[in-house]
Amino acid sequence: MGKCMIVGCGGVASVAIHKCCQNSEVFEEILIASRTKSKCDALKEKLSGGKTKIHTAQVNADSVDELVALIRDFQPDVVLNLALPYQDLTIMEACLATKTHYVDTANYEPPETARFEYGWQWAYRERFKEAGLCALLGSGFDPGVTGVFAAYAQKHQFDEIHYLDILDANGGDHGYPFATNFNPEINIREVTAKGSYWEDGRWVETEPMEIKREYDFRQIGKKDMYLLHHEELESLAQNLKGIRRIRFFMTFGQSYLTHLKCLQDVGMTSIEPIDFQGRKIVPLQFLKAVLPDPASLGPRTVGKTNIGCIFQGVKDGKPKTYYLYNVCDHQECYREVGSQAISYTTGVPAMIGAMLVMNGTWNKPGVWNMEQFDPDPFMDALNRWGLPWVEDFNPVLVD
Ligand SMILES: NC(=O)c1ccc[n+]([C@@H]2O[C@H](COP(=O)([O-])OP(=O)(O)OC[C@H]3O[C@@H](n4cnc5c(N)ncnc54)[C@H](OP(=O)(O)O)[C@@H]3O)[C@@H](O)[C@H]2O)c1
Repeated sequence: MGKCMIVGCGGVASVAIHKCCQNSEVFEEILIASRTKSKCDALKEKLSGGKTKIHTAQVNADSVDELVALIRDFQPDVVLNLALPYQDLTIMEACLATKTHYVDTANYEPPETARFEYGWQWAYRERFKEAGLCALLGSGFDPGVTGVFAAYAQKHQFDEIHYLDILDANGGDHGYPFATNFNPEINIREVTAKGSYWEDGRWVETEPMEIKREYDFRQIGKKDMYLLHHEELESLAQNLKGIRRIRFFMTFGQSYLTHLKCLQDVGMTSIEPIDFQGRKIVPLQFLKAVLPDPASLGPRTVGKTNIGCIFQGVKDGKPKTYYLYNVCDHQECYREVGSQAISYTTGVPAMIGAMLVMNGTWNKPGVWNMEQFDPDPFMDALNRWGLPWVEDFNPVLVD
């Protein structure tokens, strides 16, 4: 069918690229463009031999000019941004300059401020609309599939959804005392930030990790989970009619939290540059360099993830509860694509989002969040491409 340019070649990109190659009818040609070309070449070497034709290139995705030159040369139908949130705006600019559709998995965040919000990318709505281009934001699992689950529940199960709890559980064990499952810098910025949830039309802010609950997850068991701010709350609060409260919880083990607290206490998670032996360094970036590369956790991680949404609302005048979730096994992911489940659960929806934009199923001019499209084709694709979902019509609720 067409050509896709993938920016970045880390944990998530590696899964998405494996999946594009499995889906060669749609992804006839891909260009893997990232900062470190040797990683792109190694992946090309591993995956060559299939039907998808793979190209590689070095690119600094902070440079609109470099991106534009590469896009002009390769002429993809869509650019799939799997670099870091810092690159979202330069890649969107390059897509506008070259009249190319855009897909990503995480919303923009300025490097110098740990504050992510959709405002920066929503500001591009008119420009994408006028150019007749589609930008699909947040096509990972959370954000991503969580928005699709919400749209599916809204379409098929409820007249009105009043309460939504998004639960992200990782029952995996990688054997390290401390490691993050995706980019450490982005992960630590996210979990050390203040928490917040949406209630009765306004944001309620909490201290980091202030709100804790225990939940018994299917196929994982009981886990402590903590309320975080998460980007899909922002779009779902606008797009789910009648919603009264949306919360996001993520599980963390005690070892992770104890290490994180020590690292915070000694200043290692700071993003303020410091002088070190005559040069400026950012402590969090230095910490990233000494932590295990998330892409290397695959062979050592055992256990499962369970990510899903619990909805409460009304259908035909009666109260109703509904839980939609996916369980993913770290070792099965590793056997299939050489990555653990966190990268897998993000990389598969990234490929699906790019596919639906490319084949026109989810393609309209403007800048869109996941829940703004018909969820059915995406739900079918999840079952087909490795993330089957489960429904529970009588879930235990979070208090
Ligand atoms: N929605 C979700 O469910 C979800 C879940 C997890 C992660 N994510 C998002 O997925 C994205 C990728 O995460 P990841 O764990 O795969 O991260 P990662 O392993 O650190 O990979 C990031 C890749 O981007 C490349 N890169 C960084 N800056 C670049 C630049 N200026 N120019 C070109 N390439 C650049 C890196 O190059 P090097 O190889 O040279 O470092 C690396 O290959 C992140 O935005 C993350 O927030 C979303």
